[in-house]
Amino acid sequence: MEKTISESKQGTSLETIPLKSNKKKLFIESYGCQMNFSDSEIVASIMKKEGYNTTSNLEEADLVLVNTCSIRDKAEQTVRKRLEKYNAVKRHNPKMKVGVLGCMAERLKSKFLEEEKIVDLVVGPDAYKDLPNLIEEVEDGNNAVNVLLSKDETYADISPVRINSNGVTAFVSITRGCDNMCTFCVVPFTRGRERSRDPKSIINEIKDLWSKGFKEVTLLGQNVDSYLWYGGGLKKDFSKASEIKKATSINFSSLLNMCANTQPNMRFRFSTSNPQDMSIEVIKTMAKHENICNYIHLPVQSGSNRILKAMNRQHSREDYFKLIDNIKKIIPDCAISHDLICGFPSESEQDHLDTLSLMDYVKYSFGYMFAYSERPGTLASRKLEDDISEETKKRRLSQVVALQQKHSLEISESFVGKITEVLIEKTSKKSAHEWAGRNPQNTMVVFPKEDYKIGEFVMVKVESCTSATLKGNAVGYSKNN
Ligand code: SAH
Ligand code: F3S
Repeated sequence: MEKTISESKQGTSLETIPLKSNKKKLFIESYGCQMNFSDSEIVASIMKKEGYNTTSNLEEADLVLVNTCSIRDKAEQTVRKRLEKYNAVKRHNPKMKVGVLGCMAERLKSKFLEEEKIVDLVVGPDAYKDLPNLIEEVEDGNNAVNVLLSKDETYADISPVRINSNGVTAFVSITRGCDNMCTFCVVPFTRGRERSRDPKSIINEIKDLWSKGFKEVTLLGQNVDSYLWYGGGLKKDFSKASEIKKATSINFSSLLNMCANTQPNMRFRFSTSNPQDMSIEVIKTMAKHENICNYIHLPVQSGSNRILKAMNRQHSREDYFKLIDNIKKIIPDCAISHDLICGFPSESEQDHLDTLSLMDYVKYSFGYMFAYSERPGTLASRKLEDDISEETKKRRLSQVVALQQKHSLEISESFVGKITEVLIEKTSKKSAHEWAGRNPQNTMVVFPKEDYKIGEFVMVKVESCTSATLKGNAVGYSKNN
């Protein structure tokens, strides 16, 4: 195994590939999910080979790439506003070219060129390897579009260029696409069918990160628990695979085991888990390895069985409770967070109360809560009327946010007086004399710097808290340091 990994393409990375003269400047920015931020690092790597170095100064850019999000209407409006800003800059720098990447590119395709005159280039999430050709077209003064979705692209052979990195934590993507078809969600349309990345290239990237001083990796996917490697190809085609491929396939639990064993002093997280796919095996694997953080992001979307059904979620309220009970039984100090949507079509006051009571049962550490936003092309937009008023959506949203705030504070308070392990990531925003980092449960912890350094694992005694942050003092290094 060792040998195959070191021989794989990943290890050759940029250093051994002759670069074109690095004179051109790329300004790249990302909106939306962690996957977009991770994809931008892949794009930066591809562009580096084309002679583009990244810059954080928009004014001096030869090429601007914006990695976009379509998940809610507001996310798209944010990108459109940003395009106005590029337009203003282009007045002083007329040679600057502008490309849109990601989900909005996939959703709008060549319509983007008509709707936003500033845009020269439209590239969907599976077409980044075509960027060198597309850029050539654009440099010749033409527009270029590639929004083809793929059944096997995972960018496994690309070593990402880390952008705005703290040098301590990194994302490693393990799956792409989603087959779930939740009726509200645009992701299956913009990111295509689900496929998993070769575990060898994942392990290789992790080893490379460790050798560069990184201490924590978050494995990324729309649906990580559904990870399945059987030699490549779509998840939905697994049943057609040969018996030998099936027998030697690697699921998420095995992948987690491999990661945790490969770098025993590296911390691992993963996101996002889907309740329908999270297995007891995964929970047991988490419990077995100290270096897999006790934290699960487990979106639920609604507490009402009727709404879950209309959303085409493959779990009921009761299934979800069973899963939560198992997590709490096997990993008693596991933090759990959620995503929730308020005001899905036909949501009644009783449905909303069901959501609030589900929250009371679980007591999440954090949550990401949203008002329903109808997305063109989704099943909900075609079959269901967006019939909950903005006012009601907002009111329900503020109620779930208030309840979450209360739970977050209670959970933070439960840490006071205890000692927790923190990986130092950066200087605290509030004070230059304090470090900030997260504990395994993903809560931010702030404490005086003393002689500790970025990237060290430190044990911190928690003295006080707010709903989102713990404050304390270091009592020494962690044994994992
Ligand atoms: N599995 C994905 C989910 C992506 S979308 C992941 O990796 O996180 C993130 C969250 O956005 C969803 O869990 C859902 O709560 C919310 N969301 C998706 N579509 C939405 C819509 N149309 N309106 C409001 N919120 C939405
Ligand atoms: Fe979207 Fe549901 Fe997949 S929320 S990303 S369709 S799991």
